[in-house]
Amino acid sequence: CLQLPISDPVWTCILGSIFLLVVCWFIKDNLRIKTIKEKYVLITGCDSGFGNLLAKQLNQRGFHVIAACLTENGAQQLQACTSPTLKTVLLNVTDPKSIDQALEFVKAETGSQGLWGLVNNAGRATPIGPTDWMQMDDFYKVLSVNLMGLIETTLKFLPLLKKAKGRVVNVSSVMGRLAFAGGGYCLSKWGVESFSDSLRRDMQYFGLKVSIIEPGFFKTGVTSLAAIEKDLLRLWGRLTPEVRDSYGNKYFEAYLKAQRLSMNTLCDSDLSKVTNYMEHALIAKYPRTRYGAGWDAKLFWLPLSYAPSLIADVMLWLLLPTPMGSI
Ligand SMILES: NC(=O)c1ccc[n+]([C@@H]2O[C@H](COP(=O)([O-])OP(=O)(O)OC[C@H]3O[C@@H](n4cnc5c(N)ncnc54)[C@H](OP(=O)(O)O)[C@@H]3O)[C@@H](O)[C@H]2O)c1
Ligand SMILES: *[C@@H]1O[C@H](CO)[C@@H](O)[C@H](O)[C@H]1NC(C)=O
Repeated sequence: CLQLPISDPVWTCILGSIFLLVVCWFIKDNLRIKTIKEKYVLITGCDSGFGNLLAKQLNQRGFHVIAACLTENGAQQLQACTSPTLKTVLLNVTDPKSIDQALEFVKAETGSQGLWGLVNNAGRATPIGPTDWMQMDDFYKVLSVNLMGLIETTLKFLPLLKKAKGRVVNVSSVMGRLAFAGGGYCLSKWGVESFSDSLRRDMQYFGLKVSIIEPGFFKTGVTSLAAIEKDLLRLWGRLTPEVRDSYGNKYFEAYLKAQRLSMNTLCDSDLSKVTNYMEHALIAKYPRTRYGAGWDAKLFWLPLSYAPSLIADVMLWLLLPTPMGSI
């Protein structure tokens, strides 16, 4: 006769333990730090996108926000719509002098408090496209901002962060777990993943916590089709006739079409799905190590990144057109 496995004491024990673990995890995940109002957070890349929204959100929460913007214009616009507890500073993460200037500003602002949070958010996506359309310079452009800029910023601010036993929040991407486009972007995000892992392990002794945010696709500057397509046109126009022939003259249009279709279906315009996790990483007593943000990340890209390469290869092959060239 049929017996439910649940009636077995061993099963009851296993299921009960799992249930308890889940409850404990939820309680732990919901514990918050106190004294937000005395804490300083620096966010890079606040001109637009996640950084811009996060600066406003944390400002409302009561943090002292120092919003680093790349452009004067971006800084003025942000300042105009926020309270005076939010300060803006100009920061170009690829320029060491600019980082030093921002560091002096932050030191003066934070005084003996130290810096509670550094959110490494500044980033760019283009040039992005098929690998053999790239030249070395195209890789440098992205890596210098997303990876080298982020490392230099973190290293310089680390003493202030150690003082406050604070948090580093690095913005990676699902593309830091699954490389599905050529160019510097995926490389830079894989680098962010691995640097953040080493930083977390090295800094645990000093009470510093490091979290990685892995957003799926969201409607912001980095996913702007206009910018990506304009740059792809530059790459395509620069190809040698030999390479272009290997793809065939219909390839470029087909590539843009496939990209538009997937980006338009995937891109989520609710940026708070990402900034709420950034906020959690800063105010939770026990921040998580990784936050996959967005349904596409949670249900598709991150599981796919754990799947055997063959499965990921087939999925990505289905998404992109096939070169139909003469070579
Ligand atoms: N949107 C997505 O789907 C998605 C997915 C995964 C990960 N991400 C990551 O999320 C982060 C934020 O991007 P976003 O989506 O919010 O796009 P975004 O609106 O373009 O934000 C990126 C910001 O970084 C700034 N920036 C560019 N170069 C810089 C430099 N050298 N120094 C300082 N700041 C610089 C940009 O300034 P300007 O606007 O003045 O150029 C911009 O404000 C990036 O690291 C990105 O890779 C985005
Ligand atoms: C950022 O700094 C780099 C290196 O100094 C420079 O090439 C680039 O033009 C700067 N970007 C902006 C927007 O100032």
